[in-house]
Amino acid sequence: MSIERINELRDILRRLSREYYELDAPSVSDQEYDRYMQELIELENQYPEAYDPESPTQKVGGKVLEGFNKVAHKEVMLSLGNAYNFEDLQAFDERVRNEVGNVEYVVECKIDGLAMSLIYDEGKLQMAVTRGDGTVGEDVTNNVLTIRSIPRTIEFKGPLELRGEVYMPKASFEHLNAIRRERGEDEFANPRNAAAGSIRQLDSRIAASRKLDAFWYTYVNAENDGMTTHEQCLERFAQLGFHCNEERRVCKTIQDAWDYIQEMTEKRNDLAFDIDGMVLKVNSLADQRRLGATIKTPKWAIAYKFPAEEVITKLHDIMITVGRTGKITPNAVLEPVRVAGTSVSAATLHNEDMIKAKDVRVNDFVVIRKAGDIIPEVVRALPERRETDSKPYVFPTICPICGSKLVRF
Ligand code: IVH
Repeated sequence: MSIERINELRDILRRLSREYYELDAPSVSDQEYDRYMQELIELENQYPEAYDPESPTQKVGGKVLEGFNKVAHKEVMLSLGNAYNFEDLQAFDERVRNEVGNVEYVVECKIDGLAMSLIYDEGKLQMAVTRGDGTVGEDVTNNVLTIRSIPRTIEFKGPLELRGEVYMPKASFEHLNAIRRERGEDEFANPRNAAAGSIRQLDSRIAASRKLDAFWYTYVNAENDGMTTHEQCLERFAQLGFHCNEERRVCKTIQDAWDYIQEMTEKRNDLAFDIDGMVLKVNSLADQRRLGATIKTPKWAIAYKFPAEEVITKLHDIMITVGRTGKITPNAVLEPVRVAGTSVSAATLHNEDMIKAKDVRVNDFVVIRKAGDIIPEVVRALPERRETDSKPYVFPTICPICGSKLVRF
């Protein structure tokens, strides 16, 4: 049974990973993805005989696309372990302190963009490579050269590899979608997808028109160049002319880090770029080296993921849509409201049972959020805010399109 579940989870995770990395169209939230991954990690620990080097637990992520030259990273591009609450962060802090004693953390924004590696030599940008699967990425130099904030030449003449995140500022994203709307083209779901879609264009004139930017946060082999702390690496990058996110803080305790995270949770909507969490990094590079990494993630850093943004709005009506296969889906017609960067006026209610279970009624105030930060859904009704016009929804028995009797499966 559990072996079956392991196989099932591996299939699910492969599909979700493909949706995320290759199609730029995730169908579930990061939290859901992480839950599947956690379940699989636990089961694989319980059943070591099911070990498979091809399991999603052993891979960092995406896959290399056709069309760009493939480049092997000199050093694998790792991902980050996740935390969802203070307890997770305390557990991380305890592991770190048990290993290396007292530490301070740099807490910085988790930019919702596309991981990128830049390689300089003799003062010139030689190559820009995407993360790909962490081991092999794509040479997207021509597209990256269209990003104005990335210097083509720097005063440091030695070999230098730095890594960071290419992103689309919220304003550029709004502008791009407005143009696409005017032209009747499909809009991008969020700035991350728009940035990824721009970087993977083979024609770099398209990337050039997309107004991308980037933040840099990893100095590969920094100690070889005399760096001793992460903070010092960031200062060095800024000196060399790279954009480093100024919104960061050195914290001496995990409580200080948590206080800063709370501050940023309030502030995130006012930033010019999307962030999906905060990253804690041990500041001392020597301690980072002593802590090391697992196959996928460093032990000296962790990502705190923000919960999906939830907003309240009024549900004016429930409308039925009929899918290609004849499947009936109820949809909430909402008072338009902004959620996670875009205006939302409709949200799925999934099915009749969901409406009943959540006791969602017409004219109720409801909480909505975007699943996978893309598909708006009704989370729950707010019965305490119900007014006299609230009325239970009666599910149709006849198909609103063809008039035939509806059948439940
Ligand atoms: S550090 C070994 N710092 O989040 C350290 N990553 O979920 C690896 N990301 O692959 C990354 N903002 O693409 C780091 N301030 C930040 C980040 C950041 C965004 C991305 C990065 C990474 C992913 C992990």
